[in-house]
Amino acid sequence: MPQHVTRRLGRAMRRQRLRWLLAAIGALLAFSVPALLFAAWERSRLPGTYNVTEIGAADFGGGAHAGHGHGGGNGVHGGLGRVDVDHLKETASGEPDYRRTLTARTATITLASGREVDVLSFDGTVPGPELRIPRGSLVEITLVNEDVEEGVSIHWHGVRVPNAVDGVAGVTQDAVMPGQRYVYRFRAEHAGSYWYHSHQASARQVKQGLYGAFVVVPREDGAAEEKPSPGDELDLVLMAHTFAGRDVLGVSDELDRRAVDPGTDVRLRLVNTDDFPMRFGLAGTPFRVLAIDGVDLNGPTPLNGSLLELAAGGRYDLGFTMPRKPVRLDLLGSDAGLLLSSDGGGDVAPASGGRLFDPAVYGSPAPTPFGASSRFDRTFQLDIGDRIGFFDGKLGRHWTLNGETHEGMPALVVQEGDLVRITLSSETSAVHPMHLHGHHLLVLARNGEPTRGSPWWTDSLNLQKGDTFDLAFRADNPGLWMFHCHNLVHAAEGLGTHVVYGGVQTRYLVGGRTRNRPE
Ligand code: C2O
Ligand code: CU
Repeated sequence: MPQHVTRRLGRAMRRQRLRWLLAAIGALLAFSVPALLFAAWERSRLPGTYNVTEIGAADFGGGAHAGHGHGGGNGVHGGLGRVDVDHLKETASGEPDYRRTLTARTATITLASGREVDVLSFDGTVPGPELRIPRGSLVEITLVNEDVEEGVSIHWHGVRVPNAVDGVAGVTQDAVMPGQRYVYRFRAEHAGSYWYHSHQASARQVKQGLYGAFVVVPREDGAAEEKPSPGDELDLVLMAHTFAGRDVLGVSDELDRRAVDPGTDVRLRLVNTDDFPMRFGLAGTPFRVLAIDGVDLNGPTPLNGSLLELAAGGRYDLGFTMPRKPVRLDLLGSDAGLLLSSDGGGDVAPASGGRLFDPAVYGSPAPTPFGASSRFDRTFQLDIGDRIGFFDGKLGRHWTLNGETHEGMPALVVQEGDLVRITLSSETSAVHPMHLHGHHLLVLARNGEPTRGSPWWTDSLNLQKGDTFDLAFRADNPGLWMFHCHNLVHAAEGLGTHVVYGGVQTRYLVGGRTRNRPE
């Protein structure tokens, strides 16, 4: 064969081989990419029905492996000394001091502007009935579900309750279906502003109105520091929410007016029941921030024109003495507000453009049961992030804790009595109002700066992009407690884990054939 023919043949064969190679690679890719994607999808799916103690990876925070033993899941719940959440309940028997029924049902409400909104309600109103309870009362609330198809529950946000009545469907109870009832019993130990809401399908149900105020007031016959009511007092709860695109305080999407005598002691309890931070301005008087998340501040000083930003789920109590001129509270960026004056008339320019109130430097220091220099039994590091990928079979951007999506997020394992430190940070562009059930967190530092005002206790803490908080709490309320984002949409997207006391287990299940959908 002439050389040039051989060369050509050789080239043709090489080309042929290349083509085969490419085809083979193509075929491989064609099969393996979907296979890999399928595997990733498959792996990301949450089990249909599961026990919350069986997902997540146990993080012992450098402490002893509390109750570590055999048994499934993350290995926290085997071993000796197992206790079921059902047994972690109020021990006081006998007649409650405060008893009432709350009935969940569908309703239609009318906003101040006349707009009608279909809601889910407690007792037909939104917010639900305001519960005012003298401190120390043994409380018994019966939840009745009249017609909320997917079931309901009641969680007592910020209230220190025994775990069995924490009200989380699939964790501490089953969702209460239409026609059923459920009894919550606990002692209201600490005076302060709290709220209650359904913790079944909470992203949807809270949005639609299943919430109300829970206020624990000092006892009238109480100790000296529990101020006896002097009569001239106005104590109002203002719950900020959004219905049909309108921001409301209560059900008012307009400026409400109210007559108040000058000299009256006014306390406004602001509650953010929505998913996003809400800003308020108070004009016409100096005022103090008396409490955050139900805990009194030490030495609050008068503020003038400061703006207040509440985390979703958070509460601020404001106090002032009613002046002769009008005072005006505005839910900024909306028409909702409250005007107080001696005859309900008049006006004052809304506060806006003021400095943002900063709880980290407000008030004066006071002793705390533990602090930054305490010896901690466990230390946890939690970083909120997000990543593109599969979660529960859905492709998209998903929330992560320490790089793990929901099913792999670290569960914080503690032992009763432990002093626990959490360093919590966020690197996502969304705001995350993190909420811990059953405990208050003491803020030690923000972005490395120690807090230097009044002790700042919180149960609903906003994390902005780049924020790092050093937090501490005493593990003194055994149970299985949610720790999640209170942008409830984020929680439903998986941004939540739990604090679990070693040996605590639950017989309730989430998802699948159960009706329980806590988020
Ligand atoms: Cu206000 Cu887990 O909730
Ligand atoms: Cu969030």
